[in-house]
This record gives sequence, structure tokens and C-alpha cells, in this order.
Amino acid sequence: MQIMKLDHFIRKCSFIGALSCVSLGSISAEQFVLNTANTTLAFETAREGVELKYFGSRLKRGEDLFSGRALGQEFPTYWDVTEGRHHNEFGFSAVMPDGSFSSKLNFVGAKLLDVDADRKVLQLSYKDPAYAVFLTRFYQVSQSNDVVETWTEVRSEEEGVVEIRQLSSFVLQTRSSDPWLTGFQGAWARESIANESPLIEGISELSCSIGTRTAQTTQPSFVLSLDGQSKEDTGRVIMGSLAWSGNFSFRFRRFIDGQITASLGLNPLHSEYRLEKGKALTTPRMRLTYSDSGKGAASRTLHRWARSYGIRGGDDPRMILLNSWEGAYFKFDQKTIYGMMERAQSMGVELFVLDDGWFGQGEFARNNDKAGLGDWTVNREKLPDGIEGLIGHAKKIGIKFGIWVEPEMVNPKSQLYKNHPDWVLQLPNREHRPQRNQLVLDLCNPAVQNYIYDFMDDLLSSNPDICYIKWDCNSHVTNPGSTWLPQDKQSHLWIDYVKGYYAVLDRIIAKHPKVVFQACSSGGGRIDYGAMQRHHEFWPSDNTDARERLVMQWSLSHFYPAMAMASHVTVSPNHQTGRKTSLKFRFDVAMTGRLGFELDPKNLDQADTDFSKRQLELYKEIRPVVQLGDLYRLRDPLAYNDPALMYVHDSGKKQTAVVFAYMIERKRMDGFEPLLLKGLKAGALYKIEELGKQPKNLLRYEGKVVSGEFLMKQGLPMDWPVKSEDYISRVVRVEEVD
Ligand code: DGJ
Repeated sequence: MQIMKLDHFIRKCSFIGALSCVSLGSISAEQFVLNTANTTLAFETAREGVELKYFGSRLKRGEDLFSGRALGQEFPTYWDVTEGRHHNEFGFSAVMPDGSFSSKLNFVGAKLLDVDADRKVLQLSYKDPAYAVFLTRFYQVSQSNDVVETWTEVRSEEEGVVEIRQLSSFVLQTRSSDPWLTGFQGAWARESIANESPLIEGISELSCSIGTRTAQTTQPSFVLSLDGQSKEDTGRVIMGSLAWSGNFSFRFRRFIDGQITASLGLNPLHSEYRLEKGKALTTPRMRLTYSDSGKGAASRTLHRWARSYGIRGGDDPRMILLNSWEGAYFKFDQKTIYGMMERAQSMGVELFVLDDGWFGQGEFARNNDKAGLGDWTVNREKLPDGIEGLIGHAKKIGIKFGIWVEPEMVNPKSQLYKNHPDWVLQLPNREHRPQRNQLVLDLCNPAVQNYIYDFMDDLLSSNPDICYIKWDCNSHVTNPGSTWLPQDKQSHLWIDYVKGYYAVLDRIIAKHPKVVFQACSSGGGRIDYGAMQRHHEFWPSDNTDARERLVMQWSLSHFYPAMAMASHVTVSPNHQTGRKTSLKFRFDVAMTGRLGFELDPKNLDQADTDFSKRQLELYKEIRPVVQLGDLYRLRDPLAYNDPALMYVHDSGKKQTAVVFAYMIERKRMDGFEPLLLKGLKAGALYKIEELGKQPKNLLRYEGKVVSGEFLMKQGLPMDWPVKSEDYISRVVRVEEVD
């Protein structure tokens, strides 16, 4: 164990330190301080364990912390809870081979390891004093940003089986007299809506237990505000997101004395994990960030971190695509697809994605959602020249090609199910309960993983020009039973399924590293940093109504960067809501993320086609600002009739910002308040230029040069027309001039 003098170490290594020994009565205490660019985490050994002393803004003098009270036990176990000291939430409980469920841990040492030039990891090791059960806690920090990653590993060297009942990724300990919690919940076609309320005394839980596409009903992410209702620019907030695409649970317990303890991680419900001698279980990583200047700063931290470490290809601007789904659904043939590709290409679209319906044979042809899933051979009745033909045509006309798959699922009406009925998740003595006419394959089973790997590898190897995969997943786990797992390990299903999904994807990605992956999952189902580590982007919702997307995308922007958020222009009236909105409004919402189309361009009239071409050109100009810039949320669509947000990008030479402003429902007397911009340099000058402006209704500042100070203090008047239809919008470029 490295023991260094505190001041010396902080000076020597500015962002992380394993600190000095001090005397605590007769017990020798060790202190650990981890610093990120702007935050400090501090721990101290006490009695047999470790206490969390602090998680907050970076302190210059870490040593001051060690005279004060601890926030709580670093990783309370069920033993600590039964002692009555620890506010009842705990991170670890297990049943030993002799039936004892006391789960006691003693601290045994710490290590500080380099991950790479930017990141280090602190390992705190514990051991049960009576049993050969070892637990390690990990805290990984980075010099370049303020995200702390934390997780847990438990290993058994006991003879017999140790049954893990609970293993959290982190136990958050903090204090507040006015805490507010934001969860992000929803359902199909209305996913991930931010919902904030005071954290009540007692328990508040954000959790999901449906196995797959878990984020569709509850995001594995939260905002905990410590100074009343959260704000964009002020107040202390802790934001967390679990890198896991399966069942999770965040249990927050607020005590009467202001203490908040939350166990964050895997959902323990029916998830007992039986460890034999020599086996280990590692939890997913909890990613946390702390800000004392509101959730806007915390989101920007997470976005920057995500572009470096959390999503694939974080430096590469995303292509504009046209997806065939809402334009054709299952009803297409080769001619339809060729036509869509050609029109898309002529409008400036860069990538064409063929959605569901291209596979399955004869009675199992995938002409609707009732048959064919699992039979991944091209349907030559629909597409006589096969995938090769489609790719050949795409190449000829100059557009890239991508394709939809749903590898984890099977229709009972399929050859795959006929051949391998044992490969689906199922329960003895219970009938199948298909959802969307499909069953979930057992990804715990290596044979199933191999089958998925083989067909995906074959698809991508025989068609090396496929550059994009949309990976769908349209059912949750309805019958949680595996024919592969032994009887006494059926409860491993929830964890092993997700590990199987990751394992197979990791193999595919390793073999085909250049292919872009979208996590679709029926809309919103796999928006989590476990999936995002293996994908470039996600599909927020099957609801493509621009008005509703404003709210969903706003909510998701708390955690996920714009470049990962697929947003498509579709037809009006919208297919999910029947709402009519202008093409401009639809574009102006879709352009705040990764822009795409989901319609058949042949249904656009000439004016709309021309308009779309111009919009695509504009998007290409602002793409680096949106996709690589910093987000500032200006006016919340859940609270205001005139929501707005902006992105600011600094090229090193100058700042460029793009402001997106909307008027949802036109009301007399609304929208006179100038829009206060953020993130600009007060002393710099900026040129104002509306993109897609209408000559009859120009901004009064159109073409003018004004100071950043003016834009941030007085604000930019949006000059909404007094008389207009509902759902209008403006996109304004604010560009620094010399
Ligand atoms: C659900 C997806 O979210 C849609 O975009 C589409 O791909 C369908 N599945 C296809 O079945």
C-alpha cells in the first residue's frame, strides 16, 4: 500500500492521491482523496471499514475533510445494516455455504493503478473476516473531465456455493435538507420523460425488471439535486447513469436527519447469483458526475466524457440517413427501395438504411410482424438481386448502405424456431407469452450467441459495404427461464442474458470495427451506457412527432450527447399521433440531434423537396456545432410554450453557436421576452444569421453584429410573428467575428 504525505502527493499528482496515515486513537487511519478536474472524492478508514467523507466540488486542501463527520460507510453491507448504523441501504448481501447471511466485510488494503495517460483507478479491497469471500470496490477518475466510474467485484474462494443476494455498483451517501430527484420514465412512444419531485423521507425507487429494452420504461439514470428543485446553472446536483442494459434498481432512502443513502446498480429481484469456489461477479459501472453550478454543466460533462469514452466514434460526425421504415413499412420490393435510395441521394442524404421486412422465405416471409424473425436470408421474391444488388445500386448512385436486424428475437412462425424451440426463453409448465408475436432467444446459451455471431459475421463479411447496422429488440422477457442454465442457476438469467448480449456484440464489433451501430430497441429501450459503449447512436422513440420529440430529446439530453440521438423527419400528419406540423418545424427539431429522414421522398412535392435539400445543406454546415459542440438548455419544453436550446462549438479560432427556438402554440402576448443565450464570450462579437429565414419575417437583429454580453444579458429578441399557425420555429447561427 502506497502511503505518501498528503501535500506532497497532491502536488505531485494533481488528480488522484492515496494519502497519509494519521493517528486515530489507537487505530491507524488511512485517507484517500481522488480529484478529477473539478471534483473531489475522499475516503478514510475507520474501525474495520472505510467511510466516504466527501463527494463534491474540488477542494484545494483535502486534509480539512478528515476532521469532520463522514457521509456514511463506503460500501455498507447487510451486516452493517443489522448493526443499526447505516440508514438501511446496503451494497452487499450474500448467503454463505453454511447458511449464514451476515455479509461482513473488513477493509484489507488499497491500490492505485494507471488505466491510461488520462485515467487512474483506486481499488479498495475488503474481505469477510470469517469466510474466503473477497470484495473489491473500484473508483476510476479521469484528469480530463469530471466523471467518476465506480463498480464492485466479489470473488469467492469458499468451498461450496456463496449466493450473492445483492451487489450494488455504488452506495451513494450524501446530505441535503431539500433534495429533489429526477427520474426519466415512460412507455412505448412516450419514452424517457424527465419527472422531478421532492425526495420524500423513506424510500424512492427507480427500477426496471423486464430483462430487455429496460430503458423504455425507466432510464437507468437520475438527477439528484441537493438545493431544491434542479436548475440549469445553479445548485448542487449529482447525476448518475448505470452502464447496464438489463434490470437495475436505484433505491434512494432519505432520513429525517437529512442523510440520503442510495444503493445503485443491478436489480436484486430474483437475481441471486451462485458463486462456486474461484468464481467472481462484477457489477456494471455507475457513472457519476457532480456539479455545483446546476445540471447544465453536469450534462456537458457527461456529453464530453461520452464522446471520449462512453459511445463509439465520439469524434466522428454522423451521416444523414434515410430509413425505410415509416416510408414503406413491410410493403416494398426492389423497385420501391431503389427509388427511395435515388431520391434520398438526390436530396443530399448520405446513407440509406433498409429496415424490417427484407428476409424470411415462403410461409415465413417477413411481410408483417407475425413471421420470419430469425430467418436471416434475403427474401428474393421481394429483392431478386439480394443485398448485393441493393449495395451495388447504392454504390452506383453514390449513397452508403445500412440494414436492420433483430438478432435476439424469433417469431414462432420461423424456420429457426422449428429447428431450435429450446433456444427461446421459456418456463416449464407455462405457455409462451409472445410479445409482438415474437419470443426472446436465450442469450445465456453459447450456442445461441454463436448463431447470432455467425449470421451477423456472414452478413457483414459477404457484404463489406454494409456500413451501418440498426440493431432492434422489440420484446421484453416474458418467460424468464433458460433451458441452458441449470435448475439452481435460473436466477442468473437476468445478468447472464445481458452479458451474453454484450459478448456477442463485442465479438461482432471486434471483427467489423468500421460498421456504425444503432441501438434501436423498439424506441428508447436500450438507451444506456452499457449499450452505448457498443453503439454509435440510439433511437429515442418510435414516436417521431416533432412536438413530442422535443420533450423526449430534451429529457435524454441530460445524459446523452446530440450526436448519439437519432431524430428523423417524417410525414405530417404524424403516424403515431396524427398531429400536423410544418416541414420546417419537423426539420428544426430533428436537426438538434443526428438528423435523418423516415419517409418516401416520392411523396414530397417539389416545394418540400427543394426545401429539404436546402435544410440538408444547412445541417451539413452546422453539423459540427450540433454534434461536437456543448449543449445549453435554455427553455424547458415541459415548462414553456416557447422552448429553446443551443449548441456552442469552439473551433480553437472562433466560437459558433446555433440556437433552436420553438413556439408550440401561438398565443397573443407570448414570446416577447428576449432569449437569454449562454456559453458565449462576453467580450466577443457575434454575427446573427437566421438559417432558413423567411424574408417576410426577419429577426430585427438579422445580419447584425452584437456582443456576447448583450446576447447573454439582454438576450436575442425572437420576434415571433403575431399571427401564425402553431408549431413554428427559428434556427439562428451566432458566429464569432474578428
Ligand atoms: C421497432 C423500431 O423502433 C422501428 O423503427 C422499426 O425498426 C420496427 N421495429 C421494425 O419492426
